[in-house]
Amino acid sequence: MNIIFGSDHGGYQLKQVLAAHLEKKGHRVTDAGAFDTVSSDYAQYALVVARSVAKGEFDRGILICGTGLGMSMAANRIMGVRAALCANEFTARMSRAHNDANVLCLGERTTGTGLALAILDAWMDTEYEADPRHIRRIGLFNRIG
Ligand code: RB5
Repeated sequence: MNIIFGSDHGGYQLKQVLAAHLEKKGHRVTDAGAFDTVSSDYAQYALVVARSVAKGEFDRGILICGTGLGMSMAANRIMGVRAALCANEFTARMSRAHNDANVLCLGERTTGTGLALAILDAWMDTEYEADPRHIRRIGLFNRIG
């Protein structure tokens, strides 16, 4: 898959680990910044990643800040983005199977590296079920401008 990553300073280290992991698995990875751990504003990266996923330039996006909260709030302002803040593998799988999440948000300060890798793998490997009830439910909010 063609994946775009973004983080602020609080998610930079975890982003390096997760991006390398996906590259090793054969995915194409782009980093929209931040490129260091100097304090920066999470929303600027969230919006770049969210807009590029919404436009179809990437298959999926992954956003990491200290908690994942700011990233998910900002990304979900962009129509067509369904950003899921996941703290365990179950929500990661469900966010794909039922919600067709196209952006995964994680918190470097809240989620250990081993768990974050397991969440990432679960999220990458789970297909959207796309049955009529899920399509209808997503349609109820995806069209509101
Ligand atoms: C930065 O200190 C922190 O607020 C940010 O990384 C994120 O957790 C915001 O939601």
